[in-house]
Amino acid sequence: MIFTVAIDGPAAAGKGTISRAVAAEFGFAHLDTGLLYRAVGAKGGDPIVAARTLSPADLARDDLRSMAAGQAASRVAVIAQVRAALVDFQRRFARADGGAVLDGRDIGTVICPEAEVKLYVTASAEVRAHRRWLEVGGDEAQVLAEVIERDARDMTRADAPLRPAADAKIIDTSTLSIADAIGQAIAIIRAAL
Ligand code: DC
Repeated sequence: MIFTVAIDGPAAAGKGTISRAVAAEFGFAHLDTGLLYRAVGAKGGDPIVAARTLSPADLARDDLRSMAAGQAASRVAVIAQVRAALVDFQRRFARADGGAVLDGRDIGTVICPEAEVKLYVTASAEVRAHRRWLEVGGDEAQVLAEVIERDARDMTRADAPLRPAADAKIIDTSTLSIADAIGQAIAIIRAAL
């Protein structure tokens, strides 16, 4: 069965948590596409070469989850040739037999516009920054500033900017529990299956 769940949205909105839960619930493969951009940013050197030569070892680095890696990812993600180098892998993953969940910024709009389910998971910048701050610590105002800076870059870039697909269902997790957010996603997918 070919069945793609595209989950897009800004940083720390809950995409990863929802994606993992949905993949486990339906037995689908899961790809965190942000990790691809994080690995390109972390690799250093020419980002276009890094994207074209990305290896499993690059994706296995243990420093990809930091705020700095997120900012570096967002910066290389504006480069059209970097994005182009990562398209085929993501499309093959999305349409492989057995069902797939991909989370990112452009899955429902660019990578897989034919996805059977498109979700746009969001929350207020303050709520997202607070969640990120609970994970990374430091100065919460600085975390909020970085979240806002990254949102702005991801939403205003020329190539594949972050925005909901016209037919995406919006899940705002600002005031939802994790269980309720996952429950909403599962209900939408079950209805589409
Ligand atoms: O989801 P994340 O925080 O790991 O993503 C890190 C950055 O990578 C994000 O700020 C923008 C970029 N990205 C992208 O441009 N397209 C995607 N599909 C996923 C991530």
